[in-house]
Amino acid sequence: MNVLRFSDLCDQGRARGQRVFIRADLNVPQDDAGNITEDTRIRASIPCIQMALDAGAAVMVTSHLGRPTEGAFKPEDSLAPVAKRMAELLGRPVPLKADWVDGVDVQPGEMVLLENCRLNKGEKKNDEALARKLASLCDIFVHDAFGTAHRAEASTYGIAQYAKTACAGPLLAAEIDAITKALAQPKRPLAAIVAGSKVSTKLTILQSLARNVDQLIVGGGIANTFMLAAGLSIGKSLAEADLVGEAKAVIAAMKARGAEVPIPTDVVVAKSFAADAPATVKAAADVDDDDLILDIGPDTAKRLADQLKSAGTIVWNGPVGVFEFDAFAHGTETIARAIAESPAFSIAGGGDTLAAIHKYGIEDKVGYISTGGGAFLEVLEGRTLPAFEILQKRAAQAN
Ligand code: 3PG
Repeated sequence: MNVLRFSDLCDQGRARGQRVFIRADLNVPQDDAGNITEDTRIRASIPCIQMALDAGAAVMVTSHLGRPTEGAFKPEDSLAPVAKRMAELLGRPVPLKADWVDGVDVQPGEMVLLENCRLNKGEKKNDEALARKLASLCDIFVHDAFGTAHRAEASTYGIAQYAKTACAGPLLAAEIDAITKALAQPKRPLAAIVAGSKVSTKLTILQSLARNVDQLIVGGGIANTFMLAAGLSIGKSLAEADLVGEAKAVIAAMKARGAEVPIPTDVVVAKSFAADAPATVKAAADVDDDDLILDIGPDTAKRLADQLKSAGTIVWNGPVGVFEFDAFAHGTETIARAIAESPAFSIAGGGDTLAAIHKYGIEDKVGYISTGGGAFLEVLEGRTLPAFEILQKRAAQAN
C-alpha cells in the first residue's frame, strides 16, 4: 500500500522543528472508578510519540475516549487517566490541554496531549470547518490510530485531507504491512478462523474470506449454523436457522474453488450454559435435542490443529468454544497452541481473541496482534478503510 510513512520523514530529517499532530487510538477500557483496566493501546502509541520527539518535532497527540456528546464535557470523558499512564510509559510529564481547537502552544522537543477529540463539535460528522482548523494546527498529520481507521471523522479523515503533509505512523504502518502480508500477498495455504456467536454479525466476513482463503474454520455459534447447513442436529445450541441458506452458499463458494469449510466431527456438549455444567464429548451426529454445543471435540480440534500447523498464513478472529469455562476451553486452547507452533505468519484481532491469546500466553508466538476491534473486522470484510484510502490519495498527490 503506497502511503507516506512518518518514519521515512523522520529519517530524512523532515520532522525537525515541525508541528506534528498525531491521531492515536487511546480508547482504552476503564472500570467504574476510571482506572484503566487494559493499556495495550497506550503502549502501542508510544513508539510514534517517541519517534516524533526524537526527531525534534513539537508534538500534539489526541484520541477519542468513548462516545461522548460533542460540546458537553463530562469528567468521565477526560483523557486524564490516559495522560497519567502515558507519562509513566514515556518517563516524562504529559500535560493535558482542553479547548485546543483554536491553538496549541507547544515547542520542538515537547509534547502535549489534547483532550478527547470527540468533544469537538463536528468531529463525528467530519465537519469541514473543524477539519481545516485541526489541519492548520500542524505541519505534519500522523495517522497512527488503526483502531479508528474505519471511521471518517474530522481528526482521522478531514485533517488528513487538509494538512500540509499526511502520513501513517509506525503502528498504522505495521498494521498495513501485516494485513497486506496476510490477505493481499499470503503465503498459501491461507487458513482463516472465524468464530463468534452469530453468523449474522460476521456474514460479510465469511463471504469475503470465502473468495480468498483455502480453509475457512468456523467456530462457536457460527459453527452451529454451519452444522445445520451440513444436515446435522445441534439440539438447543445457539444458531441462526434463517441463515442456513447463507452458510450453504459459503460452503458451496469454497468448494467451487477447491477450498473447504471443515465441519466439526465431534463436539463438547452440556445440558446448561454454566462453568460447572458436566461436559460430554460426543460425535457431531449424536447431538441430543436437549444438548448445548459449547466447544469443538478433541478429534476436530486435532484435525484443525494439524491443518494450521501446515498453513502458510493464518488469520484468527474468535474463540471456537466457551473458553472462559475450563471444561469448554480445550478447542480454543488447541487452536491457540497450534497457531503458536505453526511456522505460518499469523495475524489475530478482536477482543475475545486477544483474551484467549493472553489466557494461553502465546503473545510472542503470534505473528501480529492487531489493535483494531471494528477496524480489524472491516478489513476482514474486504473493505478499504477510510484511513488507508485518504493516506494513499495524499501519497499519490505528493508524487
Ligand atoms: C474501538 O474501540 O474499536 C475504536 O476505538 C473505535 O471506537 P468507536 O467504535 O467508538 O469509533
